[in-house]
Amino acid sequence: MIRPIDPSDERVVGKIAYQTGFFGQSAAPYFSNERLFARLWVGPYFRGGGFACLVAESGGEVLGYILGSPNSAQYGRALRRVLLGRTLSRLAPLRQTWASLPYLLRAARYPSPHANWQQFPAHLHINLLPQARGLGVGKRLLAAHLELLRGAGVAGVQLSTTTENRAALELYRRFDFVPLASAETPLWTPWLGHPAEHVGLGLGLGEDAGGSPSNFNLSRV
Ligand SMILES: CC(C)(COP(=O)(O)OP(=O)(O)OC[C@H]1O[C@@H](n2cnc3c(N)ncnc32)[C@H](O)[C@@H]1OP(=O)(O)O)[C@@H](O)C(=O)NCCC(=O)NCCS
Repeated sequence: MIRPIDPSDERVVGKIAYQTGFFGQSAAPYFSNERLFARLWVGPYFRGGGFACLVAESGGEVLGYILGSPNSAQYGRALRRVLLGRTLSRLAPLRQTWASLPYLLRAARYPSPHANWQQFPAHLHINLLPQARGLGVGKRLLAAHLELLRGAGVAGVQLSTTTENRAALELYRRFDFVPLASAETPLWTPWLGHPAEHVGLGLGLGEDAGGSPSNFNLSRV
């Protein structure tokens, strides 16, 4: 069953984000503080930044999610709320947080590519637990999410992934996402063992929608 997320889903969605945050596997190798990871990556969507966020559930168990935000300004405000929140300061001093610092510094140094925010104002993340993959759940989540975006008149949606995420690339291709740019990134090299290939994709949702490589900002990867 696909259903809208509920505030009470934050914990399980955060856990899934962590369990799948390293090319579909656990983010533990590069980020040892699970609660901080969840707060940073998932928190903004539960604090006013989210739109058309859905979970896939079976037998009462949440198996995956799609999180989206309709525009960068709304997401940015929610992220600031998380960064300035008191809960974050409670999570941050934990000892394992320091082990996560190298990744945070690298993420700031090697940010993901992004498209022109006017043409593709929305962005999304989709992640499923291993047992839910390859069964069409991703297609159903993405179809439902895009329908909600179209219904709300959102002009376009963008995301960034890597060539390591084979299933994700296939999924986006099925929905006519356009690969707008790609570039090698050393962001995960210490844990992956080699550079990854960042890929930026966009999908126009309006009638005159489209994408072009010139709309991508890849200057720092
Ligand atoms: C990416 C992900 C959301 C896709 O969802 P999914 O439910 O596994 O995918 P689906 O079963 O809906 O399949 C979608 C399409 O991709 C193809 N596909 C699925 N798994 C694949 C795989 N491992 N390799 C290649 N193609 C694959 C399918 O053939 C399908 O197309 P078709 O049905 O028209 O043939 C899911 O696999 C996942 O969470 N992976 C790990 C985390 C991740 O990479 N998230 C995305 C980050 S950008």
